[in-house]
Amino acid sequence: MTRVLLTGGTGYIASHTAVALSERGHEVVLLDNFSNSERDVPERLRRLTGKAFPLIEADIRDVPTVTAALSAHPVDAVIHFAALKAVGESEADPLLYYDMNIIGTIRLLQAMQESGVRRIVFSSSATVYGQPDASPIQEDAPTRVQNIYGRTKLVMEDLIRDLARTGKLLAAANLRYFNPVGAHPSAMIGETPRGVPNNLMPYMTQVATGERPHLSVFGDDYDTPDGTGVRDYLHVMDLAEAHALALEHICAHEVSVTVNLGTGIGISVLDLVHAFERATGRKIPLKMSPRRPGDVASNYANPEAAARIFGWKVQRDVDDMCRDAWRWQAARAGINDV
Ligand code: NAD
Ligand code: UD1
Repeated sequence: MTRVLLTGGTGYIASHTAVALSERGHEVVLLDNFSNSERDVPERLRRLTGKAFPLIEADIRDVPTVTAALSAHPVDAVIHFAALKAVGESEADPLLYYDMNIIGTIRLLQAMQESGVRRIVFSSSATVYGQPDASPIQEDAPTRVQNIYGRTKLVMEDLIRDLARTGKLLAAANLRYFNPVGAHPSAMIGETPRGVPNNLMPYMTQVATGERPHLSVFGDDYDTPDGTGVRDYLHVMDLAEAHALALEHICAHEVSVTVNLGTGIGISVLDLVHAFERATGRKIPLKMSPRRPGDVASNYANPEAAARIFGWKVQRDVDDMCRDAWRWQAARAGINDV
């Protein structure tokens, strides 16, 4: 059993990870400033798991408060989710992203050092590969900065690797997520983007509820089988379980790893739309639109390292992703046909 603090603990991926950790017998403490999450998430988690996870409302940049939290709730490790994650916003306000993501991570690592917490799992992203030379992408592929959000992820990874290399951290996992989608099958937790969603699945679920009239397909002239962008979508509960396995591995062996988390299967925009229509029985009106600046044609993982190192294997397919994304969005919209 590991005691673990989740920064950004009430956010999308962290809330699902809290469930997976709890199911495997770990003790979870949540820390969040609710800048991008709903205040009822702790109560939803309590109903879902039957456990009341301690919650600290704090900003990760507030070293005294985070240090006090680590003293009140001693933990073996931290899983660091808290960050800003919108590419467009990062280009519009670079200092905000450097402050929240890079300074925020430094402050968190300082609080951990003061408290003697020396193990960390970090939410990185496939964005660190930028425009890849080829897919599937292996962890030793070159990293490339494509935007400021991506730069902050690379700097945060380097910070963590440097602390591990110099022995300040005993164990670290940089987890490079591909495209997490879906929700817990109970529909009690899920993703709640603020404003107009940037990402494909949340946008599509809002088209399905009738909140938005159609889905714009950003480019149908890519060098891919059907001309639309290809990505590696993975179910958020598979991703959540990967955190538990990675945490258990680095704590047991006191090692540091950098691994991809994806299914290894490339799915096009049109493939995902058709899977969604199949899984939900709802028609998604489409509008072919120009390419979105900065998008890559194709990007999917080689997930063998995560399988080899800590035995992770995805359990859910694209139909599960679509069904669970829809259950969550339909429940929020008060639609009862699922
Ligand atoms: P999210 O916005 O739902 O969760 C982040 C949480 O952190 C939110 O609850 C927010 O309130 C909190 N937070 C933000 N700044 C904070 C601060 N300064 N102090 C305390 N709490 C703060 O996002 P998510 O999709 O769950 O992403 C979690 C992590 O995974 C992020 O680091 C993100 O960059 C990374 N990631 C996400 C994706 C994705 O597609 N969702 C893909 C790759 C990587
Ligand atoms: C985006 C982010 C990336 C982040 C990732 C996390 C950008 C440019 N990139 O990547 O940094 O790590 O999310 O999951 O924001 N699409 C449409 N119509 C839409 C929305 C998307 O056709 O309304 C297409 C896109 O062109 C792309 C695919 O759907 O081909 C997936 O897009 P999205 O969900 O935004 O993910 P990424 O582009 O992979």
